[in-house]
Amino acid sequence: MKILFLNGPNLNLLGRREPKIYGHKTLKDIEATVKKRAKQLGCIVDFHQSNHEGDLVNWIQGAQDNYDVIVINAAAYTHTSVALRDAIAAVGIPAIEIHLSNVHSREEFRHRSLIAPVCCGQISGFGAFSYVLGLEAAVNVIECIK
Ligand code: DQA
Repeated sequence: MKILFLNGPNLNLLGRREPKIYGHKTLKDIEATVKKRAKQLGCIVDFHQSNHEGDLVNWIQGAQDNYDVIVINAAAYTHTSVALRDAIAAVGIPAIEIHLSNVHSREEFRHRSLIAPVCCGQISGFGAFSYVLGLEAAVNVIECIK
């Protein structure tokens, strides 16, 4: 089972970016935690981050035939990107939307997700643990469609 984790803009700054909202862990710390759990679950995880929308679109397109599930923290692009939504819909691989913060308890512009309708579900508000929950959900989604 292969799972692709994608991370959008500013998530490279985790650890020092608004720690009261996003916590103190870096993306590298989170990746290490996810990979440790993935090993226990017997799955392979690849992790990418970019500040550029087109990179994320390219990784989603490249996932076709190469990954079983995409777990995506699209960050600010969650709320703006028709391109990411269309890419997820186009590849037809199950996708899970994740966020560190609870986007629904924050500013109104964060309440709307353009990618939510093309994802299996959304995990939001559990800090770095949202990533582990995203992994668990990904494994569950695959087992359900087997
Ligand atoms: C975020 C929430 C988004 O609204 C924000 O733009 C981010 C991070 C989160 O993980 O909580 O960059 O996706």
